[in-house]
Amino acid sequence: MNSVSASAIQAGQPGTPGSNPAWQPAASPLHPPGHPIVVSVRSLRKEYLTGRGRLVLFDDLDLDVAEGEMLAIVGQSGAGKSTLLHMLGALDTPSGGDVYCASIQLRSLSPRQAASFRNREVGYVWQFHYLLPEFTALENVAMPLLARGETKAEAFRSAEQWLNEVELGDRVGHRAGELSGGEQQRVSLARALVTGPRVLLADEPTGDLDNRTAEMVFSLIERMHTTHHLTSVIVTHNTALARRCGRVMRLEKGRLEEVSPQVV
Ligand SMILES: Nc1ncnc2c1ncn2[C@@H]1O[C@H](COP(=O)(O)OP(=O)(O)O)[C@@H](O)[C@H]1O
Ligand SMILES: [Mg+2]
Repeated sequence: MNSVSASAIQAGQPGTPGSNPAWQPAASPLHPPGHPIVVSVRSLRKEYLTGRGRLVLFDDLDLDVAEGEMLAIVGQSGAGKSTLLHMLGALDTPSGGDVYCASIQLRSLSPRQAASFRNREVGYVWQFHYLLPEFTALENVAMPLLARGETKAEAFRSAEQWLNEVELGDRVGHRAGELSGGEQQRVSLARALVTGPRVLLADEPTGDLDNRTAEMVFSLIERMHTTHHLTSVIVTHNTALARRCGRVMRLEKGRLEEVSPQVV
């Protein structure tokens, strides 16, 4: 098995899928030449051992997401959407199969490399923002940069730029706990992207917002996706928003099926 070196990850140079003999994305009209596959799942298995026995969520799941795609995943509560997203972001471990994210084979990463991968290659946005309420918007956004050893001055400079990008330049010094729900979600988007990831993973990012605010936050995600050349996987219950993604898949009974955005 080929693996990706820690130095390559530290340098922000993800290993190429082509260097790994196991990496064989299916040819698909959805992935025209020139758009490399950035997120890939192969024969994924996930099971939980519960008090009531074995719960098999995925048995043999495959997925490819090409660079620049914005993929919406819809499906009933309990279908396994969050679990799938966690495995794409190296926050949970598959029971079998392979996950490649930002073209990195996650199975090959040591715990230290996985931490570096999470800090550099992926931005996460959750339904609940998980900001630290007593810290300012600026401090919250700077935190992933401070965690990887940037100086306070560098981290705060980048954080301020990102708060401007999400149109919160006038809220830099506000404590996160004092911001509105929509503003908090915009801060969490800035925190997700401040590290310069290739991939954005969002789990019900507008699920806790009213319709108007949800629309505004989703529009911002769309703009960040395009401006920063992201590859995005967005779990959402909101069919109107899912329709705006270039591609929609439904997760049901452990299977992912393409859905026409018009009929979501
Ligand atoms: N740590 C765990 N142990 C046992 N079962 C779990 C665990 N995490 C999730 N599950 C179960 O897996 C299923 C899928 O959960 P989840 O991925 O959160 O679904 P979704 O995000 O689609 O609502 C649910 O039935 C849930 O109860
Ligand atoms: Mg969920």
